[in-house]
Amino acid sequence: MSSFQRSCGQVQGLKKWTGMLCSLAILGCSSDLSEAPPQPIAFSHLAHSENDIACIRCHQGAETQAQAGLPPISSCASCHRRAAIPDHPEVLKFMERLERREPLVWGKVNVLPASAMVHFKHKPHARAEVDCSVCHGDVAQMTVAQSVINIADMGWCVSCHRENEASVDCLTCHH
Ligand code: HEC
Ligand code: HEC
Ligand code: HEC
Ligand code: HEC
Ligand code: HEC
Repeated sequence: MSSFQRSCGQVQGLKKWTGMLCSLAILGCSSDLSEAPPQPIAFSHLAHSENDIACIRCHQGAETQAQAGLPPISSCASCHRRAAIPDHPEVLKFMERLERREPLVWGKVNVLPASAMVHFKHKPHARAEVDCSVCHGDVAQMTVAQSVINIADMGWCVSCHRENEASVDCLTCHH
């Protein structure tokens, strides 16, 4: 079997397996999940996905970098200054912040414990076609982003790596 066929088989296996993983995680682990943190602006993913705005428009590194990244206010302003609901109270709130040059500090939803010294990377997962929803749930349908899968679980990372012949060497994930 060529290495190309092999990797295709692995990706298909991944899709099957991760579908199951998702439902197990949603049913089984909800008690480990922290509540959604307070946010400076009432941002709704649903309002944006209904308007067909792609994830990477705002999380520009999610396919190509280690970190997905969060958008600066200037990026919000590119749509909201004139075109999209410029008079909405939440929009006025961040436009004032932009004028005063005060950055928005978003509350963290997915937190890996610093003590574990883990370096997670988005890029290799996007390359292996692991969908965002496998790790973050169906964010597109959320009005308030919250975790539905506990990402701070080494057993979860390692079993998916094992299943897909990705590396389980300690130094793959730890400094
Ligand atoms: C219009 C911009 C925008 C779009 C489009 C967008 N997001 Fe977000 N996303 C944000 C902002 C702002 C935050 C931080 C505030 C919050 O958590 O609600 C965020 C937070 C998140 C978080 C939590 C980050 C953390 O702290 O762990 C995840 C996960 C996420 N987005 C995934 C997605 C996915 C998946 C899509 C596509 C279905 C998407 N986002 C589309 C702006 C966007
Ligand atoms: C294999 C699991 C996995 C997949 C797939 C995944 N993420 Fe993440 N994501 C994580 C983990 C783990 C963190 C926390 C990383 C940290 O704190 O260092 C995270 C953090 C984030 C954050 C906040 C911090 C940051 O990296 O800037 C955003 C936004 C985000 N992811 C968006 C996305 C989007 C959009 C996609 C799909 C294109 C995606 N993620 C795919 C596991 C995943
Ligand atoms: C690509 C264009 C685009 C970008 C970038 C964008 N938005 Fe929006 N936003 C929209 C559209 C379109 C709507 C829906 C407007 C409507 O309902 O008529 C919307 C709706 C909203 C709403 C109202 C939500 C509700 O519940 O009705 C808020 C608040 C908002 N956006 C905040 C933000 C913030 C904060 C950012 C930056 C993190 C951002 N937007 C980035 C296009 C954008
Ligand atoms: C749903 C399955 C899945 C989950 C969950 C998952 N990974 Fe992965 N991971 C993969 C796949 C597939 C690859 C790509 C392997 C390849 O390219 O050979 C990968 C690659 C990586 C890489 C790059 C490895 C390299 O050799 O460069 C790192 C680092 C990584 N994952 C860390 C993590 C961490 C940390 C977690 C948990 C927070 C996690 N992964 C959760 C499937 C997963
Ligand atoms: C695929 C990624 C991955 C691999 C491979 C991995 N780990 Fe982890 N590890 C994690 C993540 C994510 C955490 C944080 C969540 C947790 O505590 O379960 C963690 C947590 C830990 C912790 C707890 C640290 C703390 O103080 O919170 C120890 C100890 C640890 N790992 C040791 C190891 C050893 C030893 C190996 C190799 C045999 C290994 N890990 C391989 C992802 C990984």
